[in-house]
Amino acid sequence: MASPPKSPPGLPFSEVLRPELAELSAYAPHAGQFAIRLDANEAPPLLSAAARSRLAAVAAEAAFNRYPDAGLEKLREGLAARSGVTPAEILPGVGSDEIITLLLTALSQPRRGSDTVQLLTTTPTFVMYRMSAKVRGQRVLEVPLDEHWDLAETAMLSALRIAEPSLIFIASPNNPTSNQVSRERLARVIEAAPRSLVVIDEAYVDYSAENQLELYERYENVAILRTLSKIGFAALRVGWLIARPEATRELDKVRLPYNLPTLSQTLGVLAVTELASEIDETVRAVVRERVRLAERLAELPNVVVTPSQANFLWLRAERPAGELFEALSARGILVRSFHSRGGRLANQLRVTIGTPQENDAFFDAYRTLVR
Ligand SMILES: Cc1ncc(COP(=O)(O)O)c(C=O)c1O
Repeated sequence: MASPPKSPPGLPFSEVLRPELAELSAYAPHAGQFAIRLDANEAPPLLSAAARSRLAAVAAEAAFNRYPDAGLEKLREGLAARSGVTPAEILPGVGSDEIITLLLTALSQPRRGSDTVQLLTTTPTFVMYRMSAKVRGQRVLEVPLDEHWDLAETAMLSALRIAEPSLIFIASPNNPTSNQVSRERLARVIEAAPRSLVVIDEAYVDYSAENQLELYERYENVAILRTLSKIGFAALRVGWLIARPEATRELDKVRLPYNLPTLSQTLGVLAVTELASEIDETVRAVVRERVRLAERLAELPNVVVTPSQANFLWLRAERPAGELFEALSARGILVRSFHSRGGRLANQLRVTIGTPQENDAFFDAYRTLVR
């Protein structure tokens, strides 16, 4: 028998890969078994048995042999109603993560020469803005937040004078710092960037006292990003952009035709319509727990709790975050630490609000560790 043709000697992978990839690591949630996971800003599992049955019944009706609705029509309608805008202003995606990539792909017209900055954002903030831009070989300018984790307005305005980004991402409430940025500062940044699309990422808005839709209505260069992931439906991977119809129309050309599976579409619609009161109940329960846990933590000596408008807390202790993270992990409690980035993040931990029992277990462990 003839031996199979020899494959060519090893592909020189490094020669065909984007060089930026060498500096990046794949996004990987922390591995391992933990009794309590308070690391991903998911909501606690509060769906009622009746809601679960409805979800199962609707799932059972799905046309499993067919591709999903490529136009995402019903989902657009449901998300539009939830957001108080028209369906033409809605672009759904596989989580807001996908929308971030769609924006970076579509809004990449070089400005003032080819080496200009594509994306302006803050730091610390949600890592996927930077990651998604970097894997596309796009340049990112990150402006540090001020000492209260608010927008550093002067620095943002200076950055805008030297760069003309196609896109600006501002998370509010911000991850990992949990606070809303000041609306007045944000408005001035938007006004100083009339040729950039400013995307206000409201992944945590349901836990917040205010939203920024008013800025979307006021300024043509603003879009808003939202998600079902933080309010009990992370499994569905439904996120959406609220933007002018001419923007959603163009971005739709970049979107893959069947990006959202049928179950994500139908169950997503169910979540924001019939099950909207379950979402409201989850939000109320999380906010109650957030207030309770924040109050207890604030009583600990040398612990600083940033006032949170999200479903997580941003905590500073004197003991280094790396040590606290390890000690909590050893007790089966996973939180999020950014200590490897050093500087002012070295003593900060981010803790998702869980069930009352989980929050108590976290508090008891943390209290003994920071003493
Ligand atoms: C600020 C922010 N935006 C977007 C996302 C991604 O959400 P999704 O699950 O919709 O992709 C996250 C997730 O942690 C986030 O913190």
